[in-house]
Amino acid sequence: MGASAAYGRTMPAVRPPEPRPGPHPDPAPDTAAGPGGTLPPPGPFRPAFWRSPLRGPWFTALLGTVLLAGLPLMLLTGLLSYAAYNPDLPGNDTTPGKGLLGFYLFSWPTDPHWLYRLNQGVHVTLGVALVPVVLAKLWSVLPRLFAWPPLRSARHALERASTLLLVGSALFEFATGILNMQLFYVFPGSFYALHFYGAWVFLAALAVHLATRVGKLRRGLHDRGMDELRATEPAPPTITRRGAAALVGAGSLGLVAVTAGQSIGGPLRRTALLAPHGGADPGEGPNGFQINKTAAALGIEPADIGERWRLVVRAGSGPRTVFTRAELLALPQHTAALPIACVEGWSTDDQMWRGVRLADLAALVGAGESDGVFAESAQQKGAFRAASLRANQVHDPRSLLALHVNGAVLSRDHGYPARIIVPANPGVHNTKWVTRLTFGELP
Ligand code: HEM
Repeated sequence: MGASAAYGRTMPAVRPPEPRPGPHPDPAPDTAAGPGGTLPPPGPFRPAFWRSPLRGPWFTALLGTVLLAGLPLMLLTGLLSYAAYNPDLPGNDTTPGKGLLGFYLFSWPTDPHWLYRLNQGVHVTLGVALVPVVLAKLWSVLPRLFAWPPLRSARHALERASTLLLVGSALFEFATGILNMQLFYVFPGSFYALHFYGAWVFLAALAVHLATRVGKLRRGLHDRGMDELRATEPAPPTITRRGAAALVGAGSLGLVAVTAGQSIGGPLRRTALLAPHGGADPGEGPNGFQINKTAAALGIEPADIGERWRLVVRAGSGPRTVFTRAELLALPQHTAALPIACVEGWSTDDQMWRGVRLADLAALVGAGESDGVFAESAQQKGAFRAASLRANQVHDPRSLLALHVNGAVLSRDHGYPARIIVPANPGVHNTKWVTRLTFGELP
């Protein structure tokens, strides 16, 4: 399409640049000295270098509004995901040196049973959907990166530093999050700790960024930076601003279409082309649903879960009660329809689990109503070889030590001989290959 075909006849969508408001008339761009009296170096430091007619307050403000709604939602769902870990309980959060940042939010509930599935599905799907918006927003403000002189005053220096921190931490969060959901573990250390600290840097930078902008707005100051985004010598347009915005929106929707199926499930699961776990074919039969890590990958030896396998249950330092799988099967069995919802955003549809209630096991060893449990696994490798559950999780009647799923014996990869399944629990805390349950008062 030629440039002229992209425009209405009577009202061009891309207006020619307007004169800048305020006491700073447009300088002749390539020759004028900046406000500090120095001539900008050649290239991107001179306004005439930036020629796209799309840049300007309208495009930047539109993308900024989407991010202003989307990024706080990312932060909120991220912090809720952190709360879902019950990070104050033993074994649940191994982030080094978290100090005050690892504050205890609240006891993560068990209702509705799909709560974690929804939370993490939103976090990851929205994160993927926002990628085109973040990139377009950065492109739209690129000339500001080369503003001349680079620092006008102490306040300007602070503003620039906070903006750099904001952009840097957001890009860091996007890069680490997407690498993690793609199972591409190339981090120097734990993804979890990097993403966690990145989120706090982002929150701090966002607070400073908003505080400096709100201050300006309240004093009725015009944001000169937004006007400076307009090209001083615009090139002929090849697309309207609305067209560019629609392209960004279509990119986001396209990414949602090939990701969201991993969290929504059902027939849409097959559309999750961008999701290595959620969209993968988990095989047929009652155990044919997604697995994060196989038994072999986590160092489970056949001997660990064979004839010699035993479950040791105790209340605090009280006497140990030892169960074989046959003895567990002889206890009252209960059924619960629950999903596995992974921290990486994918989840299964509800599966029909059958086994012994955690509350019944607690009562058998004399544990109280306010006791949680510390569950240990036979796994030799991987981060979570043990995890704690709070009393509200233990005493939910749907919380099971599952022995069967969908009418069949658990497969090795789904945690045979016995695994934990708790409503609204992050998948990583539904410990597989359980060998030991210690009930007691947890902090
Ligand atoms: C500004 C953007 C973001 C913020 C503020 C943010 C914040 C958080 C926070 C606070 C957590 C919980 C702590 C942790 O598990 O490390 C979290 C977890 C997570 N985030 Fe993000 N996040 C952002 C972007 C993304 C993106 C774009 C993705 C991927 C598309 C992503 C994927 C994940 C995953 C998979 C987890 C779970 C990690 C785990 O518990 O093992 N995040 N996020």
